[in-house]
Amino acid sequence: MNETIRPAASLKGTVALPGDKSVAHRTALFAALADGPSTIRNYPASADPQSTLGCLRQLGVTVTQAAGLVHVEGRGRGGWRPPAAPLDCGNSGTTMRLLAGVLAGQPFPSTLVGDASLSRRPMARIADPLREMGAQIELTDGHAPIRIHGNPALRGMTYRLPVPSAQVKSCVLLAGLFADGETVVIETVASRDHTERMLGLPVVGPAQQRHITATRDHRILPRQWVVPGDFSAAAFFLVAGSIVPGSELWVPGVGLNPSRTALLEVLREMGADLTVENARAEGGEPVGDLRVRAARLRSMTLDAAVVPNLIDEIPVLAVAATQAEGTTVLRHAEELRVKETDRIAAMVTNLRALGAEVEAFDDGLAVTGGVPLRGATVEAFDDHRIAMAMGVAGLVADGATTIRDADTASVSFPDFWTQLEALRV
Ligand code: S3P
Repeated sequence: MNETIRPAASLKGTVALPGDKSVAHRTALFAALADGPSTIRNYPASADPQSTLGCLRQLGVTVTQAAGLVHVEGRGRGGWRPPAAPLDCGNSGTTMRLLAGVLAGQPFPSTLVGDASLSRRPMARIADPLREMGAQIELTDGHAPIRIHGNPALRGMTYRLPVPSAQVKSCVLLAGLFADGETVVIETVASRDHTERMLGLPVVGPAQQRHITATRDHRILPRQWVVPGDFSAAAFFLVAGSIVPGSELWVPGVGLNPSRTALLEVLREMGADLTVENARAEGGEPVGDLRVRAARLRSMTLDAAVVPNLIDEIPVLAVAATQAEGTTVLRHAEELRVKETDRIAAMVTNLRALGAEVEAFDDGLAVTGGVPLRGATVEAFDDHRIAMAMGVAGLVADGATTIRDADTASVSFPDFWTQLEALRV
């Protein structure tokens, strides 16, 4: 399905966010590993978190859901059953990489499969450490399908992350829950910390040298989880509200875990008018309500240390940069090349199609703002965040912008297009 976006005079109103995708996967996984029943409130209906629930059911875990409330009958660390068929992770890298960590420690074999996009993403980054811990892993030319011959006697190890990736970190830590001795993951660039925070794993050291430890004895308790609103989904509206003149948007209940919110500081540095109200804690995660008002933006240069904390927001930040005075430099982001699509190539192609002035680098892009955008037909490249970022660009482009296969947004935000249209005044 294509979406055609016309320029907006201004945007006003309230955005209802889906539950945070990263947190949701982890609540379901940890609930399935706990002994006894857990509930999860505000579990998203979007495709990726639903892929995790589907895989857990295939592993013998009873999962029921009604209107965002999920019940998981945790079977304990030793209670998962051998799946009768390959586990279908759909488009979800988090499902595949986190599950692989748990499956590496199971006494049965399993196979993880994904859609065409997920089957192109690099999996040696998880297979290598899992093999070091004693699991037997077969990849398909470095990719999924992944065949795992689990080993209930994994060996703990110290692993220094070669890439700043929360998925790799989480995979190794989850395997560490099934290993003899300690598993210590060292990260030198801090990535999102939901796994260690939600499991209560010990963390020591400064941001440039975080040591996180997992052991077989670490208890995973059944809980009543609450999933906060997805900051990465809010990002599209924070940018839209900033760049469409005269806008004012209210985005309540947003997860504000500091390892996710670097976009707030970056947009403020660019001159955005963003306020956090009613800061509170919900289910162990900081949450607040965001207000954004349109503002004149200026360019900035992204610092390497914050890149993992806004990696998913860079496509829409590039859209903000088209409206900022000066040249915004978004580099140190080579990881964007191995997301649901090559997000650097996708944004360079799409923004140039709208007439933007964009320079491409191996590790990112630079955008010179102030060049008027004109509507064109662009591709989603099978990537939800590219589709939604281009929807936001369409609001400030002259004429009509058509995003082909825009329904891919439902991977993380099923009613994104309806909400975007409803905010026009
Ligand atoms: C995620 C980690 C990030 C992010 C993805 C979700 C997670 O991926 O891009 O959307 O939930 O751990 P990487 O770990 O590959 O950087």
